[in-house]
Formats: sequence, C-alpha cells, structure tokens
Amino acid sequence: MLSFVITIIAFCFVHVTQGETDDPVNVSVFYESLCPDSIRFFTSQLEPTYSELRSIMTVDTHAYGKASDVADTDGEGYTFECQHGPEECYGNKVLACGQQYITNHNTFLEFNFCVMGAEDPPSSGEECANQVGASATDIITCANSTEGEFLLHEVGLVEAKLDPQVTYVPWIIINDEFTQENLDAAQEDLKALVCNTYGGTPPAACTA
Ligand SMILES: *[C@@H]1O[C@H](CO)[C@@H](O)[C@H](O)[C@H]1NC(C)=O
Ligand SMILES: *[C@@H]1O[C@H](CO)[C@@H](O)[C@H](O)[C@H]1NC(C)=O
Repeated sequence: MLSFVITIIAFCFVHVTQGETDDPVNVSVFYESLCPDSIRFFTSQLEPTYSELRSIMTVDTHAYGKASDVADTDGEGYTFECQHGPEECYGNKVLACGQQYITNHNTFLEFNFCVMGAEDPPSSGEECANQVGASATDIITCANSTEGEFLLHEVGLVEAKLDPQVTYVPWIIINDEFTQENLDAAQEDLKALVCNTYGGTPPAACTA
C-alpha cells in the first residue's frame, strides 16, 4: 500500500515537473534601431543564438527604448524624440510596421535580424522586406504615415508597463522577470544563458 502511494506521488511529481521544465525560455528585448549596444546584441548574440536554439526559446522584440512621444494636437498621430535622432525614430517605425505586416513571427524575426544587421538599420526596410519575402510597400508606406506613429506609440506603451522601468538599452528580460545578472549574462553569452535556464533535456547545440 505504502509503495503504491509513493508511486502515485512520484508519478504526479514527475508529471508536473516535466510540464513546466519543457517550457521555452522567453527572451524579451527592448532596444533602439541605432543604438550601438543594441546592434551588437542583435548581431553577436540574439541572431546566432536563435538560429541554434529556436526549438527551446521564444524571442519578442520592441524597438522604442529611451524615446518619448506626444500626441499631435490634431489627434492624428504622435511626434517622437529618440536617443539617436529622427532617423532612429524612423527605424523604430519600420520595425513596428514590420511586426504589423509580417504575420509569421519567425519571418518577422528574420526581418528584424536583417534590419539590425544592416549598415544603416533605418534605411534597410525595403531591402530586408524583399530578402524575407515580405511586402516592402506595406512596411514603408506604414512607416512613413501616421499608422507607423500609432504602432510605435503602442510599443512605447508596452515598454512603459515594465517593472522595473528601462534604464539601459538593450534591456533584456528572461521569462518575464528582469534581473541585472541576466541582463549582463545575455550580452556576454546568450547561448549559455538560454541553455542554463532551460529546464528540459538540453538540445545537442547546448552540449556542443
Ligand atoms: C520615408 O521616410 C524616410 C525618412 O523620413 C525618407 O527617407 C524616405 O524617403 C520616405 N520614403 C517614402 C517612400 O516616402
Ligand atoms: C514562455 O512563454 C510561453 C508563451 O507565452 C509560456 O507558455 C511559457 O510558460 C513561458 N516560459 C517560461 C519559462 O516562463
């Protein structure tokens, strides 16, 4: 009888633990299209890690950072101020519009990586849309209109809800909980961080 009870308990425990540990590691990035530290993080950490570990991680990205915006008095849009000037605001709109018009998230991330890997991210929207097979016209038209302003404003609202607030860019959050340790580790070696955080059986890429 006792062993029967233990078996039941053990079974439940293993069952519940497995369900939780197999969850993907969620990486959220709040960044700016012309911020050198953001560009470095995208090109040297995020893109290569995602290409190896996409089976055990999710990535969501939000290009706003240390920007601000005010509603235009006619109510027709927003005027932005960005850390690296108006070109950065335009680049952030291109990214917000890309997210809106590229409905497949994986394809959007390819677009996102292409833009952040370009020599000049803000002006790379058309080329990157073409590269991933998305509509450059939709994205550029959006980025040059009030639609892009509304979309970028929404990104700012998502960022404003964070606790703690963004004080550094890129701001990287693992599994919805900000820690300074993870922010540092992600920029140092994101692959190791994701492998170490993942609770399931590590994929071959983690042990290679
Ligand atoms: C869109 O806006 C950017 C930045 O202001 C500008 O360089 C570009 O020429 C515009 N493109 C179109 C198609 O209006
Ligand atoms: C990651 O996000 C997914 C989808 O929102 C969620 O189901 C999963 O539990 C999250 N993983 C962790 C470890 O929080």
